[in-house]
Formats: sequence, structure tokens, C-alpha cells
Amino acid sequence: MERTPFRVLICDEMNPGNLDHEGFQIDYQGNMDRAETLRRLPEYDALITRSRTKVDRELIDAAGPRLKVIGRGGVGVDNIDLEYASLRGLLILNAPESNNVSAAELAVMHLMAAARGLTRSDSKTRAGTWDRKFLGLELKDKTLGIIGLGRIGSIVADRAQGLRMKVVAYDPYVPETKFERLGVERAESLPELLGRVDALTVHTPATEETIGMIGQRELALLKKDAIVVNAARGGIIEEAALVEALKSGHLFAAGVDVFVDEPPSPDHIFLQAPNLGITAHLGANTREAQERVGAEIVSRVLDALQGDVSKGA
Ligand code: MLT
Repeated sequence: MERTPFRVLICDEMNPGNLDHEGFQIDYQGNMDRAETLRRLPEYDALITRSRTKVDRELIDAAGPRLKVIGRGGVGVDNIDLEYASLRGLLILNAPESNNVSAAELAVMHLMAAARGLTRSDSKTRAGTWDRKFLGLELKDKTLGIIGLGRIGSIVADRAQGLRMKVVAYDPYVPETKFERLGVERAESLPELLGRVDALTVHTPATEETIGMIGQRELALLKKDAIVVNAARGGIIEEAALVEALKSGHLFAAGVDVFVDEPPSPDHIFLQAPNLGITAHLGANTREAQERVGAEIVSRVLDALQGDVSKGA
């Protein structure tokens, strides 16, 4: 007797590649409406999302007993209620390698855009003001501080060194050998890092430890005219504190790709903040990354459904 195929639902935008796999029925509908996801989920053995879909209690409860695996197309799993998912016996998989280069490149883009006033000059020029008075900052010989020297932070360090920046990082979980290999100086504490750098970028996951780790007090420890970038997760740098530090002129400029609540409300404080470049959580959004993410997460989920968890986990 022929086995019923495993059914996999992909409900967020990605490039899932070839959907034709023997023994599986893979349905792709990027940007699926939440109500539809909740309604259709009981028919599936696995769900694949990106960060847009909140895999919370409501969604897990809606799934029913058939769901076994949740695949996260990307690195962070902070959109998933991991505790509840594991209580329900669900296997959570991610694609930790696929979009690191893209995420790192976006952070470097924000750093350079902030240093040269890209968004300010862009909007002035569009509004008909030809303003050549603005003076930006060179990055060469400046010190970049990185919080989190994991996969993405390490690539940012390498690219910043390519710009001839000196790189210092704070990451108590990374061994000395990695700092040495990357040619990155270790800061022993967060205050030490903040006091030393001309630009700061964060590359940590969103956890209880990291959310709010850079607030008013920490921003005040940065040198005047520092640049701040958050292309990791909304809230690692407190939103109100960042806006205040920009308004007061303590910071030269900042760049953010992430918000605490996404999408942000139309009256979000970032939208009126001076010298702040904004992108819409686009770190992983390159053709190349989405091709790799789709292929990696689909293959991990299919392996897991077939019982080969060692390949998937
Ligand atoms: C990630 O965690 O890899 C990204 O935030 C993925 C995404 O853009 O959804």
C-alpha cells in the first residue's frame, strides 16, 4: 500500500526551490494570511516560516496532533514559543548558515550609509534641495565595536577590516582562539567596549539577556558622534533611548533594520528620528540568501519527517 505523503506548508516569503520531492506534498504560499494559516495548519505534518509568522500558543494549538516539525527559514527562532512547542513535542529546525553573509552585508551597508548621511542626502535631493554642506565620517582607522562575535558578527568583523577599521568585540561566550583567528580585540566588559568604539553594531539573538542591553546608560558611554547599527533584533538597542541619543546630537547617526513590533505602526518613533536610516527587516533578503535558506530548511524538514533527525537538527 502506498504511504500517504507527508504534507509541508511554507507560509512565508522565501525561494523554496524545487517543490517536487517523492513522498512529500509541499505547498508554498509566501505571505499567507494568519487566519488562513490557522485554518489550514491541521492538514500538515510540518510548517516552514520566516520571522513574519508568530509561532505562538494560538498557532501551535490550531495545528492539532498531525504537526511534528516547525522549520524556521533563517537563523533566529525568537518568533517561536520554544517552550510551548517543546511541551507539544514539536521539533524545531532552523537554517543557521544560509543568510549570514547577507545579514552582515546589510549591517555594513547601514554603517556606511550612516557615516555618509545617505538617507538624509537622498530625501533632501528628492525634495529639491541640493545640499553639499553635509560632512560625513571616514571609517578607515576608526574602531568598530561588535556585540556578538557569532556567525554574522564574524563576517561583519572581516568586512570592516576590509574597510581598514579596527575591530573590538564583546562576547563572553566566544573563546580567545576565535578572537585571535579573526584578528579582533576582545573587550572584557560591555562598558569597556562602549567606551572605546567609534561605531557599534549588535549581532546577538533576541534573548532575555540581550533585549534592552543597550539603553540610555549604555548609549551615553559611547563617544560623542558615534554611529550605532542594529540589524539583529528589535529592542536589543532600546528604541526610545536610541531616538533620544540621536535627537540630543550625542550620536552622529544610526541605522536599523529591525523593530520591536514588525511591521511598525505608522507613528513609530523611529520614523521621525533624525539621522536614522531604516530598512524593513531586509537582512536576509537577497536572492542568493533566500535561495540557500529555502533549500536548506526544506531539506532539513524533509529529513526530519523521514526520521533522520541527526541531519535535520
Ligand atoms: C533570520 O533570523 O535569519 C532573519 O530574521 C530571517 C528573516 O528575514 O525572516
